[in-house]
Amino acid sequence: MGKHIAVAIDGPSGAGKSSIARSAAQELGFVYVDTGAIYRTVSLYIFDRGIDPADRAAVTAALPEIHIDLRYGDGGLQRMFLNGEDVTERIRLPEISMFTSAVSGIPEVRAFLMEMQRSLARERSVIMDGRDIGTVVLPEAQVKIFLTASPEDRARRRWEELRERGTEKTYEDILREVEERDYNDTHRAAAPLRPAEDAVCLDTTGCTFRQSRERILAIIRRHMEA
Ligand code: DC
Repeated sequence: MGKHIAVAIDGPSGAGKSSIARSAAQELGFVYVDTGAIYRTVSLYIFDRGIDPADRAAVTAALPEIHIDLRYGDGGLQRMFLNGEDVTERIRLPEISMFTSAVSGIPEVRAFLMEMQRSLARERSVIMDGRDIGTVVLPEAQVKIFLTASPEDRARRRWEELRERGTEKTYEDILREVEERDYNDTHRAAAPLRPAEDAVCLDTTGCTFRQSRERILAIIRRHMEA
């Protein structure tokens, strides 16, 4: 890792990790890496090929066909390329969220993406967000934050976000999906979601975006000054 700083931010889906982490990275001049987007890109390929996400052997056999690129656009926005095609928008479709939860539980998929994630942190100072960054991908990260919020708070945020895009889904549907994904992510055998022993736990239930961002920046700055 050399002189670079690595900040690992882990936590359940919808806790606001990506928007807070991206904004904090911009403020500090770090690169923001959204690892969920990388898992979503692999899953999109599996989805498009019509492979059953529960078929571990078929998913594993398809991995060598996948080439992923990360590029950075305006405002540090991470754009995802799958075999040369920009899939940044498509990976956010709700069916891909559920599909990714299944695909990301396959150990071969996690191994396939490990070196890519580590090399991103080797090149520059990063804020990397995901589920197992502090525990598995970057166990030596100088700063580890475990960001959570109540399932109800996370479902409400997601519902508001989707409503702006014209979804028909009810809050109850979304809450059920949030709880289902939490269950999958925390109960899988391969790299389950859990805080690293040395992580600072931050619960943003009821916090505004600005408040959460300031709290994260304060934790990182405290480390940089130490
Ligand atoms: O953060 P997100 O909602 O975009 O993540 C999508 C899925 O990918 C989620 O179900 C968990 C999985 N994921 C993972 O297993 N490991 C990571 N480092 C990041 C995401």
